[in-house]
Amino acid sequence: MKKAVYPGSFDPPTLGHVDILRRAAGLFDEVIVAVGANTAKKPMFSLEERVAMLQEIVAELPNVQVLPFDGLLVNFATQHDASAVIRGLRAVSDFENEFQMALANRTLAPNLETVFLMTSAEVMFVSSSIVKEIASLGGDVSGLVPKNVAARLMRMREGS
Ligand code: COA
Repeated sequence: MKKAVYPGSFDPPTLGHVDILRRAAGLFDEVIVAVGANTAKKPMFSLEERVAMLQEIVAELPNVQVLPFDGLLVNFATQHDASAVIRGLRAVSDFENEFQMALANRTLAPNLETVFLMTSAEVMFVSSSIVKEIASLGGDVSGLVPKNVAARLMRMREGS
């Protein structure tokens, strides 16, 4: 059975993430969305909220589960018998950072492959930061995030 881990901070999940997730679910028998904390980032949504949003999103994908993780990604992947790490590539600007992460992870776990999937052109410009900025300034993010995420962003803006 081919199992993959799709890690990220998902703060919040976007349609770009969903696009990659659907592609990964079609390629692997099982996909674990690993929701982590990038220690360099201060998240808008708590870990629990990010996991909950993703669980709602993957309800339609039977071979995908969502789990929180901390510590090293390679340890999480090994503990879950995953043979691959999925990362989405949007533009050349993603490449350098992703290349560095993939090589660092390979040094730590030589048998764990990083598999890059190309994001759809329509969502190539989307990032979690752009979504948060537009939402906080009262803009419409319905074309950038799944419905449940748009609803949460709206509730957050209204302060409830
Ligand atoms: N569509 C839309 N946006 C995408 C995307 C896609 N397909 N793919 C990435 N992004 C965006 C994210 O929204 C995020 O945007 P932001 O910077 O505006 O928040 C950005 O690209 C990168 O975020 P993400 O994919 O979540 O990665 P990350 O760099 O925040 O987190 C971890 C990466 C959690 C996987 C990494 O930090 C990690 O592995 N941590 C564990 C510790 C570890 O093992 N360290 C050693 C690894 S080198």
